[in-house]
Amino acid sequence: MKKSARRAVIAGNWKMNKTPCETTALINEMKPLVKDADCGVVLCVPYVDLCAALEAAKDSNIEIGAQNCHWAKSGAFTGEISADMLVSMGVKYVIIGHSERRTYFGDTDVTVNQRVRAALDAGLTVILCVGEYLEQREQGVTGELVAMQTKIALGGVSAEELSRIIIAYEPVWAIGTGRTATADQADEVNGIIRATVKELYGEAAAEAMTVQYGGSMNAANAAELLSKEHVDGGLIGGASLKAADFAAIVEAASR
Ligand code: PGA
Repeated sequence: MKKSARRAVIAGNWKMNKTPCETTALINEMKPLVKDADCGVVLCVPYVDLCAALEAAKDSNIEIGAQNCHWAKSGAFTGEISADMLVSMGVKYVIIGHSERRTYFGDTDVTVNQRVRAALDAGLTVILCVGEYLEQREQGVTGELVAMQTKIALGGVSAEELSRIIIAYEPVWAIGTGRTATADQADEVNGIIRATVKELYGEAAAEAMTVQYGGSMNAANAAELLSKEHVDGGLIGGASLKAADFAAIVEAASR
């Protein structure tokens, strides 16, 4: 399968930003700007903004996601949200394994796998994040590391379920730093992720997989990153908080 036959997806990761009122305003501003997108458009918002986001995005091509979910269906997990709760609201996507969750909130490859399983069981599409710290890149272990993160996260995921997985390569040193991976660096690691999926599920599944790049992607650098064979979209943090910037990235992915 050629890159052009794969579905590009541009997903915004709002992180811990925007109130419900601000969410409504920002999505209303974005809607007309992205309505002709020839790619998937997803906004992953804070839990408390999900209601407002779903309402504002109704009857538009914008789909709504959360930024995490717990692995259990329900129970004594104070402060957590289950995948079933998200689905019951109408949420379609969930980010799992973002490096900020791994770094600040103790997510491990094993709990990432548990969350992926729970999200798939509930019917969600998962945006699974993998990526290396700067020290790991300097030690030359990036390829091995992302392959391992990918393999563990996909443990117990069937070939059929794989169509509801998007993988986002996010080098930790590029997130929120303004320091983007070069297009060749992104392409190389995205290619390693695709090769890992091929090893596990075969060529057709690997070729069909949407592999995004994330880490300081913005209106100025998106076109070059997205031109690469293995870069099928982006996971966008900072630039997804401004309607015009996000729309410019969506446009770059639609070309
Ligand atoms: P950034 O964040 O675009 O602000 O670097 C990307 C992400 O963390 O998903």
